[in-house]
Amino acid sequence: MAAAAHDWQSYAARIAESPSADALAAIEHELFGRKAGVLTVALKDMGTLSPDERRAKAVELNEAKKSFTEAIELKRKELGSPSGDQLKIGDGIDVSMELPAHEEGHLHLIPEFIRSIEEVFGRMGFDVWTGPEIETEDLNFNLLNIPPEHPARDGQDTFWINPSTSSGQGPNSKQVLRTHTSPVQIRYMQTHKPPFRMVCPGKVYRKDSDATHSPMFHQFEGLMIGKDITVGHLKAVLIEALTELIGRKVEFRFRTGYFPFVEPGLEMDMMWQGDLSESREGKWLEMGGCGMVHPNVLRNVDIDPEQWQGFAFGFGVERPLMIKHRIPDLRSFYEGDLRFLKQF
Ligand code: DAH
Repeated sequence: MAAAAHDWQSYAARIAESPSADALAAIEHELFGRKAGVLTVALKDMGTLSPDERRAKAVELNEAKKSFTEAIELKRKELGSPSGDQLKIGDGIDVSMELPAHEEGHLHLIPEFIRSIEEVFGRMGFDVWTGPEIETEDLNFNLLNIPPEHPARDGQDTFWINPSTSSGQGPNSKQVLRTHTSPVQIRYMQTHKPPFRMVCPGKVYRKDSDATHSPMFHQFEGLMIGKDITVGHLKAVLIEALTELIGRKVEFRFRTGYFPFVEPGLEMDMMWQGDLSESREGKWLEMGGCGMVHPNVLRNVDIDPEQWQGFAFGFGVERPLMIKHRIPDLRSFYEGDLRFLKQF
């Protein structure tokens, strides 16, 4: 049986013109593949030839093998270091082209502001702390000097957790979505010895919704306990920190206020600036409450009120942000409207 005649010239041309490393590998496989490679099969087929034919075929095949191996090696090197022209044509990258406009993502206003809160109070020596959003009735109310029959509970519009799904046990283990960050004060004082300074930002929940209220919003709680901490320290810390957080001079006002866990209690307002509708211009916006930690609260966490005293505060995160960026409606923070979010 005569062996098939091969057109070795056409393979040589295809190797020389092969456009990519992949195309070259395909030709190499076509020639040298272990089972069906053209050269592999031709070498195997030599066994069927007469001795003369076999000798001539051996010379031809060995030459072909040698020259293809060299040509493929050469071409592989060439393709491995493409010229500038090949780059342009081959993969469509034009290094002289202008960058397309691209948008970078950024933090939402609220977590960004929370980071600044941690940073500003951190610099004043406050420890940054967190607590769970599902709290026990004890931590959210009782230990903060708000017993069950206390009228202050009504003002909090609490979301109670259905007792059948609550994981708590025992008489004082009813659970709530925390209505304020104040329970973190208790958690902190249960695990730390005074003197200390702590700040705790986080989410809180209340049944409430309008232009300045949302059922979920953010607060930051602060606590500073020492031997001789006074209302003067409280005012100084708050004015200093909030001025820095707002980033410009804002008018503040302190009024007496009532919170069961502080005595005396104060409320702090900031002057509203920049409402587009002018309806709030020049009016006060309440930022939150503060005061000197009530002796009962200190006793509840085994801190001796004869030896230690200090202040606490609990502020909204959204409210100062509204003043900072002149945002009239608090609900804008949660609507996910890109036209709003992209402005910051
Ligand atoms: N927890 C209070 C609230 O959400 C705010 C508050 C008032 C916190 C006075 C305090 C404080 O730490 O001292 O209405």
